[in-house]
Amino acid sequence: MEKGEAVRIGLTFDIRSDYPRAAGDPADAAAEFDHPDTIRAIEQAIEAAGHTVVRIGNAEALLKVIDRLEVDGVFNIAEGLRGRNRESQVPVLLEMRGIPVVGADGLTQAVTLDKAIAKKLFLAEGIPTPCFFTMAAPTDPIPAGWTFPAIVKPRFEGSSKGLSESSRVLDEAALRAQAARVIRDYRQPVIVEQFIRGNEFTVAIIGNETPEIFLPVRVMIDGRAELGDLFYTFSRIASGADYACPAGISETLSLELQRLALAAYRAVDCVDFGRVDFRVDEQGRPFVLEINPLPSLSTLDVFGILAGHLEVPHAELIQRILQAGIRRWGLETARPAGGREAAGGRCLMSGQA
Ligand SMILES: Nc1ncnc2c1ncn2[C@@H]1O[C@H](COP(=O)(O)OP(=O)(O)OP(=O)(O)O)[C@@H](O)[C@H]1O
Ligand SMILES: [Mg+2]
Repeated sequence: MEKGEAVRIGLTFDIRSDYPRAAGDPADAAAEFDHPDTIRAIEQAIEAAGHTVVRIGNAEALLKVIDRLEVDGVFNIAEGLRGRNRESQVPVLLEMRGIPVVGADGLTQAVTLDKAIAKKLFLAEGIPTPCFFTMAAPTDPIPAGWTFPAIVKPRFEGSSKGLSESSRVLDEAALRAQAARVIRDYRQPVIVEQFIRGNEFTVAIIGNETPEIFLPVRVMIDGRAELGDLFYTFSRIASGADYACPAGISETLSLELQRLALAAYRAVDCVDFGRVDFRVDEQGRPFVLEINPLPSLSTLDVFGILAGHLEVPHAELIQRILQAGIRRWGLETARPAGGREAAGGRCLMSGQA
């Protein structure tokens, strides 16, 4: 295609209904996959920017059509079915055929899905993250001097999969029992972290050289902003996440969360978009929990909340993500989807878009 033309964008995704629960699967087995409304919202946003959408589906569907795919690039939100590289599968297949993708490549998807690897990269960059260790078996050693409370999470999951009230543990026996359950049910090692009593925030980013760093969004639980020992579990996510924006925090903390979010984004080579999750302890110290290079684009999730706060359509944020990818690929389009340049690496204040 010529510079300045509309583009053909493939859409890769995993829809929940494609994965009926198998015997022995935990209740949250398909939690990472998207609702058809989210796929439709992305499709409509891309079309509204004047481009053509080619629906592809999951990695298996991509494999079937990849050699006759006529697209300029792919907008990918596929999470993949299993394994530490599940989120890398679609980007790597596309890379093999030289097809550009919106969002992070296979390497970034893998090192961020594995929370332990991501945290090692954060630490190398001086980004604060809760102390941790991993266990591949429930009998594995616990580091000398380890203190409680701790939280036990599957090592390669998202959407609060594998998190329940028993994930927060107060002693070694409870830790080992929870590790045994998660290792058995999710067939993977666990990451054990120091539990951060305090509050929770998430920071979304769109763009590359000069990304937009959005205002922190506060994560609420049961209508409470001050979380203390409360944390997100799968059943809480399933009954609808609850957010507040603006987050009702000092400008100093807000800027610090935005600074750390960008540092985390850079530490793992995130591109086009991402979301960084934080806990802030009772002394006001922020800790990065994880970075999501494939954050939910549901209208009900953080990007929907931000669109509401900024008083722009949700579709415009999708278009800005796409535009970031298209620019990165070197394909400027005639119809700039977002209608404005990305903000030059600045932190957006309340009401700014
Ligand atoms: N170290 C911690 N201290 C306190 N709470 C924590 C900690 N780690 C995780 N949590 C709680 O568990 C939730 C899920 O953890 P995390 O963000 O690491 O995993 P995830 O399943 O990948 O998340 P997501 O739902 O954002 O995809 C957090 O939103 C938070 O409420
Ligand atoms: Mg998270």
